[in-house]
Amino acid sequence: MKHFLSAALFAPFLFVLPVAADGDAASGESLFRRCAACHSIEEGGRAKQGPNLFGVYGRTAGTSQGFDRYSDGVASSGMVWSDESLSQWLQGPAQFIDGAKMTFRLSDEQDIADVIAYLKANSPSAE
Ligand code: HEC
Repeated sequence: MKHFLSAALFAPFLFVLPVAADGDAASGESLFRRCAACHSIEEGGRAKQGPNLFGVYGRTAGTSQGFDRYSDGVASSGMVWSDESLSQWLQGPAQFIDGAKMTFRLSDEQDIADVIAYLKANSPSAE
C-alpha cells in the first residue's frame, strides 16, 4: 500500500518526461529513405503517394498543401503532430487513426525517435 501510494503521488511527474528515447536526426535522415518512396520533405516538395512532410511537426494533420487524397480519418482528426502522436502513427497508422491510408510502419523505438527528430529538424516552427 505504501508503495502504491508513493507511485500514485509521483505518477503526475512522469508526464513531463520525454515519451520516447532521444532521437538522432542524422540517423533519422537515413531512415527517411524508406519514407521517401511516398514522401518528399524539402520545402515546397511535390506530393507523391503521400503528402509532402516539410513542417509536419507541430502542424495540424491532413493539411499539407497539394495533397488531396487524405483519408477522412486523418483529414478530420484536428490533431497536431507531436512526439506522442507521431510515435503512435509510425507504429501503426490504421491502428491509430481509423481508415488511415499509410501502409507502412516502424517497430523499433529508437528508429521511431530518430525519424521524429528528423521530421522536427525539417519543421521550422518546431522547437
Ligand atoms: C507506401 C507509402 C508510404 C510510406 C512508405 C510512408 N508513408 Fe507516410 N503517408 C502515406 C500516405 C498515403 C499518407 C496519408 C494517410 C491518410 O490520409 O490516411 C501518409 C501520411 C503521413 C503523415 C501525416 C501527414 C499529414 O500531413 O498529416 C506522416 C507524418 C507520415 N506519413 C510520415 C511517414 C514517415 C515518417 C514515413 C517513414 C518512416 C512514412 N510516412 C512512410 C504513405 C506512406
